[in-house]
Amino acid sequence: MLTFKDVSMAIDHRRPIVIGNWKMNGSRASIDSLLRSLKTGCEHVEHAELVILPPFVYLEQCEQALMQTQISWGAQDVSEYEKGAYTGEISAAMLLDFHCLYSLVGHSERRILLGESNELVARKFHAALEQGLRPILCVGETEKERDNSQTIEVIEAQLAAVFHLTHNLQALQQAVIAYEPVWAIGTGKVATPEQAEQIHAEIRDYIKGRDPELAQVIRIIYGGSVNAANARSLFEMPNIDGALVGGASLQAEQLIEIGKQCNRSF
Ligand code: PGA
Repeated sequence: MLTFKDVSMAIDHRRPIVIGNWKMNGSRASIDSLLRSLKTGCEHVEHAELVILPPFVYLEQCEQALMQTQISWGAQDVSEYEKGAYTGEISAAMLLDFHCLYSLVGHSERRILLGESNELVARKFHAALEQGLRPILCVGETEKERDNSQTIEVIEAQLAAVFHLTHNLQALQQAVIAYEPVWAIGTGKVATPEQAEQIHAEIRDYIKGRDPELAQVIRIIYGGSVNAANARSLFEMPNIDGALVGGASLQAEQLIEIGKQCNRSF
C-alpha cells in the first residue's frame, strides 16, 4: 500500500503554471545568464506559477539563484527506485535534497528514444509522489497514432497505467498532466487551441470518471511548440491550465512573456 507524505501540501488549484523544460541544453555560463534574466523578468509575471527544469547537474546552480524568487525548479526525470545499485539513476529523495518541487515523468523523448513503457512511467510517477515530489505526467500521441484516430486510446492507456497504481486519488491533486502531441514537439507545428482544448477536455472527462473532485482541480497543461506568439490563444481555452515549454524556454524573455499571458485569476 502506498503512503503519501504530502497529501496535505497546499496546492493552488488550477493556478496557471508555465514550465520550462530545458532538455539537454546549456552550460554553467549560459545557465547563469538565463537565470539572471529570469530573476529580473519574473517580477512581471502576476498570476502564473513559473517552473524551470534544468539538466540534473545544474540543479544546484538553479537552487542557489532562484531560492528567494517566485520561480521554482524541478527535474526532467526521476528514478522509480528509492536508492541503491542503480547506476546513473537519480532518486526523488536526491531531487528533494536540492529543493526540487516537480519532476517530469514520461516525456515522449524518453518514451520513444529510451523505450520507457507506460508501466515504467507510472512507477516513476508514484515514486515521485510517495516521496513528496510533484510529478508532471506527459501524455500524447504520435503523428501516426493521430492519423489512425488512436489519440484518445493512446492517452487513456498512458493515464490508466498511472491510475492502476493509485490507491489514494486525492494525492493526485499534487500532479500536473501535460498533454504533448508528439507531432507538435520541437516541430513548430502547434496544435490549434481548439484541437488542444478538445483533448484536454477528454483527459478531464477521463479523470472525472475516476474522481469528479480531482477532475475539477487537477492542472492539465499543453506542450508542443508553445511560444510567446501562440500562448495566449491556448490559455484562453477553459481546460488549458498552462504550458510545458521546450525550445522557447531557453530564452528568458520568451518564458516570461508566456508567463505573463497566463493571466487567468485563480
Ligand atoms: P517544444 O518542446 O516546446 O520545443 O516543442 C516541448 C516539450 O518537449 O516539452
